Amino acid sequence: MFKLTDLCFEPSGRLVTDHVTLDIPAGSCFCFVGPSGCGKSSLIRLLNRLNVKTSGEVLFDGKPIESYDVRVLRRQVAMVFQKTCVFEGTVRDNLMLALELADEIDDLSIETRLAQCLSAAGLPESALSVNAELMSGGEQQRLGIARALLTRPKVLLLDEPTASLDVEATQIVMQTIKSLRSDRTIVMVNHHLEEVEDVATHVAMVDKGRIVEVADVDSFFNNPRTERVKAFLAAYRRYGDKA
Ligand SMILES: Nc1ncnc2c1ncn2[C@@H]1O[C@H](COP(=O)(O)OP(=O)(O)O)[C@@H](O)[C@H]1O
Ligand SMILES: [Mg+2]
Repeated sequence: MFKLTDLCFEPSGRLVTDHVTLDIPAGSCFCFVGPSGCGKSSLIRLLNRLNVKTSGEVLFDGKPIESYDVRVLRRQVAMVFQKTCVFEGTVRDNLMLALELADEIDDLSIETRLAQCLSAAGLPESALSVNAELMSGGEQQRLGIARALLTRPKVLLLDEPTASLDVEATQIVMQTIKSLRSDRTIVMVNHHLEEVEDVATHVAMVDKGRIVEVADVDSFFNNPRTERVKAFLAAYRRYGDKA
């Protein structure tokens, strides 16, 4: 789905993404882990051009991402952030606004699409009339997922989607993410390793802007090749997500 070659992002002279070469297979649930500030968010934001690379190449579906109209690209590669920004109004208002911004309002099956996206995000159809600002954090995250699904993206980018949630809301949102894996590629940043172990097909560890190790999920957790990943996993086992 994505092929990254020698990718660098160097805003204000600081090498935040350092020569990353990586394949993200179609249909995978590809998770980036690594210490806070190591460049995980910066890296996934290069995949839908929220960040603009300094050098190197990103191919999406075989073509350089610069060759896509940026709006077309972001319909295909949708993003869910750590905290979903909701607008004043109902859930329906929030979803419709996203569709208008995506220029997709002319579709005749909008009602069907709203219902499908809500349901895929684990929200009942009755949520459409709910005031979005009064929803819980977990519900707002699911609204963020529904909103991202509206343009029928091939890829969902998720940047720490459970970071602002309590354990129960986390469990519900992770369940939702798991249910979405079969139909699309998921690229997620998540420093909660038990969540990563639960959903990922592939894991890459980032450190100081570089990829330290990429592996399938079992090898990453049970048979890491590098000392850096071994140390990271050991620290996590002792100190949890402060590691
Ligand atoms: N546009 C930018 N300009 C300057 N520094 C940036 C920019 N984007 C990210 N950084 C820096 O890059 C580093 C990595 O940030 P980030 O990708 O958010 O890390 P992570 O998501 O792993 O915590 C941080 O020190 C951040 O301040
Ligand atoms: Mg981040």
